[in-house]
Amino acid sequence: MTASTSHLISPHGGELINLIAEPGRAGELKAHSRDWPSWDLTARQACDLELLLSGGFSPLRGFMTRADYLGVCHNMKLASGVLWPIPITLDVTEQFAQTLKPGSSKVALRDAEGVMLAVLHVEDVWQPDRKAEAEAVFGSTSKLHPGADYVLNRGNGWYVGGKVEGMQLPSHYDFRGLRLTPEETRAEFARLGWRRVVAFQTRNPMHRAHVELTFRAAKTVEANLLINPSVGMTKPGDVDYFTRVRCYQLLLSKYPPGTVKLSLLPLAMRMGGPREAIWHALIRKNHGCTHFIVGRDHAGPGSDENKKPFYGPYDAQTLFKKHEAEIGVTMVPFSMMVYLEHEDKYVPDKEVPKGARTLNISGTELRQRLNEGRDIPAWFTYPEVVQELRRSFPPRHKQGVTIFFTGLSGSGKSTIANVLMTKFLEVGGRPVTILDGDLVRKHLSSELGFSKEHRDINIRRIGYVASEITKNGGIAICAPIAPYDAVRKQVREMVEPHGGFILVHIATSVETCEQRDRKGLYAKARAGIIKEFTGVSDPYEAPTNAEVTINTAELSPEESAQEIILPLEREGFIGVSTEGK
Ligand code: PPS
Repeated sequence: MTASTSHLISPHGGELINLIAEPGRAGELKAHSRDWPSWDLTARQACDLELLLSGGFSPLRGFMTRADYLGVCHNMKLASGVLWPIPITLDVTEQFAQTLKPGSSKVALRDAEGVMLAVLHVEDVWQPDRKAEAEAVFGSTSKLHPGADYVLNRGNGWYVGGKVEGMQLPSHYDFRGLRLTPEETRAEFARLGWRRVVAFQTRNPMHRAHVELTFRAAKTVEANLLINPSVGMTKPGDVDYFTRVRCYQLLLSKYPPGTVKLSLLPLAMRMGGPREAIWHALIRKNHGCTHFIVGRDHAGPGSDENKKPFYGPYDAQTLFKKHEAEIGVTMVPFSMMVYLEHEDKYVPDKEVPKGARTLNISGTELRQRLNEGRDIPAWFTYPEVVQELRRSFPPRHKQGVTIFFTGLSGSGKSTIANVLMTKFLEVGGRPVTILDGDLVRKHLSSELGFSKEHRDINIRRIGYVASEITKNGGIAICAPIAPYDAVRKQVREMVEPHGGFILVHIATSVETCEQRDRKGLYAKARAGIIKEFTGVSDPYEAPTNAEVTINTAELSPEESAQEIILPLEREGFIGVSTEGK
């Protein structure tokens, strides 16, 4: 640490770690890496590596060895005895693990583009008891707990531990001026003459309540404020960080000049509640912060299958308090801030006078209001922030939609899809694309046949294209047979985060389709000339979750299209602007 920052709070474990090798050494490592196995880091692993390399995870010098891992899982302590609450492990496949020799192997750790970021000197390779880990660290093995779900279902089953030497930090091309390493944050605090700094961790957009809370926190402990949002990986479904950061930037002017700083943290959150709160504070300590705000339900993962919250709202504060001396950072605890209507101000919910009327808008309600283009009141957030959120989350009638048909060959999918397309073009405002079964097979899936495996690949490709169209605000009309339920559900999951999804079952019976036999395919299928023909010699799983079911024996194509337009109108995907009303 340079002399100018030595008066700041000491990093965790006493020394600020910097794992980036000197240029000469880095060149040497690169030259040798030709013979080493490579591991392509996942997004989460790249986040962990970045904080290892920059010293955000001081005193860690690499991915945890087995002894550190076990100590952290069961006692929240590294083998050295230093407090550490969350395992930082490199999970790899069994196949990769088998190629490694503890004590001698070196692994080139690469980013998604194949650029070598670091070398891992392999000390330990082991198959962890992942259930025990999830139970010890998160107190849960539920799939609904994002941290436990990663450990148990999404991560790989083998861990590799050992020291890391870095060639370079992962590259980021966005918000470059806001991504400060611990060293840079400390230098900045020293430059500004900040000794007491309270950090605020967030994964959500900030509104008036958060500004009031952070401002109060800073005032209470007489410290300056570091707004330090996580921009690595947060909870699935969160607002993307680009939007959030633009909102944070707009809020800086709400604080007294010179009292606040914004810096982005490339942290992959685990949603580990109490343990995570301690981890967050240690990382901020390494960045030079003396205080840390722990609010209600800090890093909360939500509720389990029985709707029971994984952690109590103030469990994080309790655990933090217990270890505060070892953490070395002072907790600034806060309960939820609510709006006191008659006084037009925010107060912690514990300070609300009896019987006073309070107002609050939950994240879910905010999303609903944005979807419907409804008013977002000024007591809740600032107009600049609303404008920014509306840019990223337009009302439903401006969002993309996928209309996904399923039904037998000759059931009428293409005919109705084409009528529907002309209806959308008549309304205008959004680009429309048809992904018809035959056309897709010609342009996207020409090498595929009709086995279950190939049909599923075909549908996933359609789903991918539809999700991209939806994400970009267009209308995708898909009309494959899509006979299998599971893959149809996968497509729904791919699209729904980006906009609307409507499954339309064209339930024309096989008898009617066969009677029509417009392409002569049923005759060929019956004669055995075409094999694996859906409805004749191959299965069709009728959906039980379709938003619309149409029998073309009863409805004309125009009437059928109308049946689809109605639910779209009801859900607001077709409609008149009510923005700002
Ligand atoms: S799937 O199952 O969704 O991948 O099928 P899809 O891509 O929609 O392709 C169906 C069109 O291919 C023609 N065809 C067959 N369909 C079903 N089974 C077999 N074995 C088969 N062989 C060729 C048929 O013309 C389908 O077009 P549509 O428009 O549905 O009639």
